[in-house]
Amino acid sequence: MKKVNFAEFGGPDVLRLIDAEEPHAGPGRIRVAVRAAGVNPVDWRIREGQVLGAHPTELPAGVGLDAAGVVDEVGEGVDGIEIGDHVFGEGSSTYAEFAVLSAWARMPEGLPFEEAAGYPSVVETALRVIREVGVLPGQTLLVSGASGGVGSAVLQIARDRGIAVIGTGSASNQEYLRGLGALTTTYGEGWTERVRQLGRVDAALDLAGSGVIRELVDLTGDPQKVVSIADLGAPESGVRFSGVAGSVPEALAEAARLIARGKLHIPVEKSYTLAEAAAAHIDSQAGHTRGRRVMVV
Ligand SMILES: NC(=O)c1ccc[n+]([C@@H]2O[C@H](COP(=O)([O-])OP(=O)(O)OC[C@H]3O[C@@H](n4cnc5c(N)ncnc54)[C@H](OP(=O)(O)O)[C@@H]3O)[C@@H](O)[C@H]2O)c1
Repeated sequence: MKKVNFAEFGGPDVLRLIDAEEPHAGPGRIRVAVRAAGVNPVDWRIREGQVLGAHPTELPAGVGLDAAGVVDEVGEGVDGIEIGDHVFGEGSSTYAEFAVLSAWARMPEGLPFEEAAGYPSVVETALRVIREVGVLPGQTLLVSGASGGVGSAVLQIARDRGIAVIGTGSASNQEYLRGLGALTTTYGEGWTERVRQLGRVDAALDLAGSGVIRELVDLTGDPQKVVSIADLGAPESGVRFSGVAGSVPEALAEAARLIARGKLHIPVEKSYTLAEAAAAHIDSQAGHTRGRRVMVV
């Protein structure tokens, strides 16, 4: 089968499309014929060798954690899923024609594979940070870095729970963010004043890692009302850094429910073939993805 691989840590040029042995579903796992794989920033962080603590990586290694596809092997001890089912979930080496998943859920009726592949990691992260920041219905959550994958999920899940949202994004994403139900403003010079003019902030999330932790603490008045997923220095200001994934199966089930109710839709900004993996990483690393990027197999 075809698979995207890298034999050394480094820039996008270390990625190769190779012929590889097909993986097989061990106990508690399933294998899918991959139709699409989500492109997440963690994919290129792993490729660069930046996150070996959280993602121990033996070389040569495949790329990709999220996928949507058709089940074609069911491992020992797995119930409730059949060969031929359409699923989305998390596993390893998903930029490939076949991949093994460790967590999955059936895709909602009518959801395209391409869109489905964008949900697993971002919805798990969004549900986790909303829980950890402790924001309640009727309160207002400020989201710094609202237009990417995680931000798009946070905004929609929060709105569905009756939480008001203020999102920051680039000028070109203001309309997109308003479409997700947020009050919005641009980041950059004077942004905290613009946020203050939009209203009181009860809790805040740093999703962009753009060095705004102190400002988020000022806006909420309490470091415990701020959570970051992208700034490892956040704890120096008493702010929690959230980096340990919660339950992926629960997140997938919740994603499926929200999508089926029409409450969650993350657009695919651009799709790439496996041969274009390096371009997908270069675009993701540029840091301005609206919604999600995906590999289509
Ligand atoms: N710790 C964890 O568990 C965890 C889990 C998932 C992701 N992450 C990390 O969290 C970050 C976000 O992930 P993602 O998947 O949402 O990334 P993404 O889809 O690539 O989105 C990044 C977003 O950041 C925005 N942005 C760039 N510069 C900004 C600035 N100065 N101020 C505010 N927003 C800015 C961009 O919006 P504009 O185009 O509008 O500028 C873009 O939409 C990544 O660094 C990722 O590695 C961590």
